[in-house]
Amino acid sequence: MSRLRSVVRGCGSYLPADVLSNEELAKSVDTSDDWIVQRTGIRQRHIASPGEMTSDLALAAARAALENAGMDAAEIDLIVLATSTPDNTFPASAVAVQAGLGLTTGFAFDVQAVCSGFVYALTVADKFLVSGQHKRALVIGAETMSRILDWTDRTTCVLFGDGAGAVVLEAVEAVEGGRGVLTTHLRSDGRHKGKLFVDGGPSSTGTVGHLRMEGREVFRHAVGMITDVIRDAFAATGESAETIDWFVPHQANRRIIDASAQKLGIAPEKVVITVDGHGNTSAASIPLALSAAVGDGRIKQDDLVLLEAMGGGFTWGSALVRW
Ligand code: UT7
Repeated sequence: MSRLRSVVRGCGSYLPADVLSNEELAKSVDTSDDWIVQRTGIRQRHIASPGEMTSDLALAAARAALENAGMDAAEIDLIVLATSTPDNTFPASAVAVQAGLGLTTGFAFDVQAVCSGFVYALTVADKFLVSGQHKRALVIGAETMSRILDWTDRTTCVLFGDGAGAVVLEAVEAVEGGRGVLTTHLRSDGRHKGKLFVDGGPSSTGTVGHLRMEGREVFRHAVGMITDVIRDAFAATGESAETIDWFVPHQANRRIIDASAQKLGIAPEKVVITVDGHGNTSAASIPLALSAAVGDGRIKQDDLVLLEAMGGGFTWGSALVRW
């Protein structure tokens, strides 16, 4: 019996035009460029302009990914959008993207796993494609984190940014050693739900709320969770730190990325870093980083690419993709 695999056909991204530097932030909150760079590696972040919504960012990234894939929107029959900052409580922002692309066929929905959102969305889309039920998917991560930040809280507001990234996946006959999503591994542990959360919501306060985080606690768990789930990906495929070409981690903190890579024995030159320019864009960070590394020629067809993310919930996950 033939088997299907989800192959990446293209990727794209969108960043809002407004850039907020650390120096600029330090004028309104008690912080400094030195502190932010040393503790996080972040130098600047992009901020959506008034009226620019998550679905606008997602639509721009989706269009860029379709163009990169050389595909028409009409070829897409599944849209999975990872976001924790939707335009509205409902409907899903994914349907706004679907409408923006002029699609009335297939289906679209949001996935909410905070910073792990893109790995979750990729996994879900992959399952639909390899089942043979759908043929081509847009997998998008898009966030307007600036809208849920408490801009008076220096422990969180310096960390996050806005942006969107997308990949186009297509179901093709699996070939031994061939391209596509090779394995995905998802985890969550709700005991930690109070360590990184938003203090509002429709059924609790009736407000949108603000992001709250016990940063040190999240940091303490991050490296162990990330390395565990990457080891799961290596065990499932027989691949290793030596055989991967690129490590494209969620971009929350440079220190977490470096410590994870070091613990796994991944060479620093294989690590794609965008946290300096984007901050933590939650579900958008991985497809933004993928797009950057494909765009500048680092990631090429047939390269073995390792993705991982960890975030609120806690949720975490990994994926190995032969590009
Ligand atoms: O994407 C989802 C997952 N999220 C993450 O991965 C984030 C994980 N956590 C982190 O990245 C780090 O914990 C932070 C970057 C949030 C904080 O770094 P840290 O090295 O853990 O610092 P800390 O929280 O232990 O704070 C050290 C000091 C404190 O002062 P005292 O108590 O030592 O006097 C803070 O009040 O730094 C102070 N501080 C700041 N100082 C200047 C906290 N935020 C700031 C700031 N500017 N923005």
